[in-house]
Amino acid sequence: MDYTQNNPIPVPLEGPSWEVSSTIQTVFDWRYALERKNIMNLYEKGKALSWNASDIDWSIPVDIEALMAQRIRNGHGQVLNGVMKPPTPLNDKEMMQFQLNINAFLLSQFLHGEQGALVATARIVQSVPWEEAKFYAANQVADEARHVEVYHRYLTEKLGFSYPCVPSLATLLGRIMGDPRWDITFLGMQIMVEGLALAAFSVTRMQMADEPLIQDIITRVMGDESRHVAFGVLALERLYREEMSSTDLREREDFVIEATELLRERLLLTPVFEQLGFEPEVWTEWSRNTPFMRGFRQLMFAKIVPNLKRLGLLTPRVRAAYEKMDLLKYEHGKDSIEEAEPPPPTELVELLMQFMQAQAVATAPSTASS
Ligand SMILES: [Fe+2]
Ligand SMILES: [Fe+2]
Repeated sequence: MDYTQNNPIPVPLEGPSWEVSSTIQTVFDWRYALERKNIMNLYEKGKALSWNASDIDWSIPVDIEALMAQRIRNGHGQVLNGVMKPPTPLNDKEMMQFQLNINAFLLSQFLHGEQGALVATARIVQSVPWEEAKFYAANQVADEARHVEVYHRYLTEKLGFSYPCVPSLATLLGRIMGDPRWDITFLGMQIMVEGLALAAFSVTRMQMADEPLIQDIITRVMGDESRHVAFGVLALERLYREEMSSTDLREREDFVIEATELLRERLLLTPVFEQLGFEPEVWTEWSRNTPFMRGFRQLMFAKIVPNLKRLGLLTPRVRAAYEKMDLLKYEHGKDSIEEAEPPPPTELVELLMQFMQAQAVATAPSTASS
């Protein structure tokens, strides 16, 4: 697909490419037993449901500034100051820039995470010991190439600006790709990074309900991602619950805790504060502690927690870490096998309702006086 890169993705200070070394084992499966029927079913589904990025209507005009300006005119700036309680209240212009940058930052990280999924899943094709998992991973690789394509096109042709990969996400991707153990690739990518992406996509789709192009893109991508997360659960369930020694499992617990901390770090929005000239330390501290931002970050784990539980990884050590981060409230949610796509997060729906009510109050005087 040919498209105009009006606004290329900024290259990180470290340079335009990044090499991560690890020595992995390439595994051939001469049995071709194809005995994991649930993975074969997923493979059939993946083939049947694949789509083409060219099918998207790229002629839909995108003017995020106009859209945000309209929201500000509708009183959103005042309401957001009330809900987010920033260190200093933002005027309309500042709030608009803040919202524009958060949107560009999150979408940019979606793109970089998709590239991570592309390379990690290509490795799974090579290293997973079962042929049926190689089949499905190959199908997922094609999905991920499309995801990189659509987010890249949206950011460079349509949106206007973007961000490089945030250091905490890069660290996590490096950690996943630097580890030679195939199950860690699954745990890091399919369970943690893609589990979070599924929740983040769902939130962005709700927040950008008035932008039809991104709605279409995210809906298509989410359909694929729900299968990818299910793939991770199906691949690891038996291994972790029945086959792995407690010593090896302990290393997976450490990995989960570290990955969770990095994923939370990614959502602190520090690069946005730097970009806007907001005091990064003051604003990052706000982001770390204010109830709105804490709630936003916790939402992102709504699917990861039930999936870890299904894998037998919600062990006392992981529970203790999650208790401190207030993430255990999601443990009774449905995992990705029971329910593929996450419903819109209840907390966010409630927040948007509050937002609408507050907006109605904020705009009431002008209505009353007319
Ligand atoms: Fe993806
Ligand atoms: Fe994916």
